[in-house]
Amino acid sequence: MAILKIARMGHPVLRRRADEVPDPTAPAIRTLVADMVETLRDINGSGLAAPQVHIPLRVVIFHVPTHRAQADSMPRPEGMTALVNPVIEPLGDEREDGWEGCLSVPGMMGSVPRFRRIRYSGSTPEGGRIEREADGFHARVVQHECDHLDGILYPQRMVDLSLLGFVEEMQKRFAEAAHAARD
Ligand code: NI
Repeated sequence: MAILKIARMGHPVLRRRADEVPDPTAPAIRTLVADMVETLRDINGSGLAAPQVHIPLRVVIFHVPTHRAQADSMPRPEGMTALVNPVIEPLGDEREDGWEGCLSVPGMMGSVPRFRRIRYSGSTPEGGRIEREADGFHARVVQHECDHLDGILYPQRMVDLSLLGFVEEMQKRFAEAAHAARD
């Protein structure tokens, strides 16, 4: 296993459509997923798409930590999931705004509208199929990661770029707002 280097915004691998994986169970895909999991755990992120590690294939991994799930209406943590050739279908038109960051856009965060509920499916490197419905953070992380497979980074989904900023600055503002609300 290996910790992989992350491609940053501006690298062409993040702008192109990633290719379908002909055989999700190929040994090279299993190795890629294992390396992606190790990389994500090392940097303590929620999700990672193969183009972010310079591999233009339709592979994503993600998990929903307990503290994230608790913020949602239907709290349901999800363990580390690997999806090959994923497909997303929105369930309804409802969208909600939420804060996102991306390992390929380090140090920044922005408010992004996403479908609140989705159904997604895909193959696993073990030869199985996953089909799930998700909402809240879970739906958000899957939409964010699958966007990477179509060459889309979260700032391209934003409708109000005044809500894009450096994490350090934004968190100061959040802390001030929370303080003001208490007074
Ligand atoms: Ni990302």
